[in-house]
Amino acid sequence: MKTPKINIAIDGYSSCGKSTLAKELAQELDYVFIDSGAMYRAVTLFALQNGIANGELDENKLISRLAEIEIRFEFNTSSGASDVFLNGDNVESEVRKMQVSDYVSPVAAVKEVRLKLVELQQKMGINKGVVMDGRDIGTVVFPNAELKIFMTANNEIRAKRRFEELQSKGEKPSLERVKANLEKRDFIDTNRKADPLRQASDARVLNNSNLSREEQLSLVLKWIEEAKSTLA
Ligand code: CDP
Repeated sequence: MKTPKINIAIDGYSSCGKSTLAKELAQELDYVFIDSGAMYRAVTLFALQNGIANGELDENKLISRLAEIEIRFEFNTSSGASDVFLNGDNVESEVRKMQVSDYVSPVAAVKEVRLKLVELQQKMGINKGVVMDGRDIGTVVFPNAELKIFMTANNEIRAKRRFEELQSKGEKPSLERVKANLEKRDFIDTNRKADPLRQASDARVLNNSNLSREEQLSLVLKWIEEAKSTLA
């Protein structure tokens, strides 16, 4: 018998490895991985390209131009995950840059931006079989997800991981700048009015500071089996 598909919601602080885990789970289970952060990053890139985030974010201007923003994902066979597209252009590597990271949390705090993206995300999960990571997936996007995970990791470890990732892509920010960006985003994401980052009451906590990727994956695969066994 074919096992039923579930939705898996992964939330947590910046750079604690949510996307890495989500991507591995999707490959293992033959599910669709959706990086909701890439969507907020794409909106931020639009704001930067159009002079809407120049020193400070012009919220009203961004809201007035939201209808011009079209975001979609396309599977990339070489990376084994989906690339994000903004108005027809592949912006997957552009959206990971520090300049986007500097503006993304103020953009993601705008209620109208969230309404637009949450609606798209909910449509993507309608047929189940989705692993989505972000900040409000278990609380707002998929409040009925069969498995919710809240990830945490120590600040120093998170900053070091992101620093190394950026270096490998050719960006050279200092470790201090990377750490300051993570902490600032965590603060804004946790304290904003619209859909703040919160641990869902029924989420399982995964602190991966001292777990290898393999250990983390096998633990979560066990949780998935448990979640499936409670269905039907
Ligand atoms: O990968 P990293 O942890 O650096 O962040 P991300 O998942 O790419 O998300 C970038 C930013 O988008 C976050 O800092 C949040 O401000 C925002 N975001 C959000 O508000 N809600 C989501 N579901 C996903 C991301």
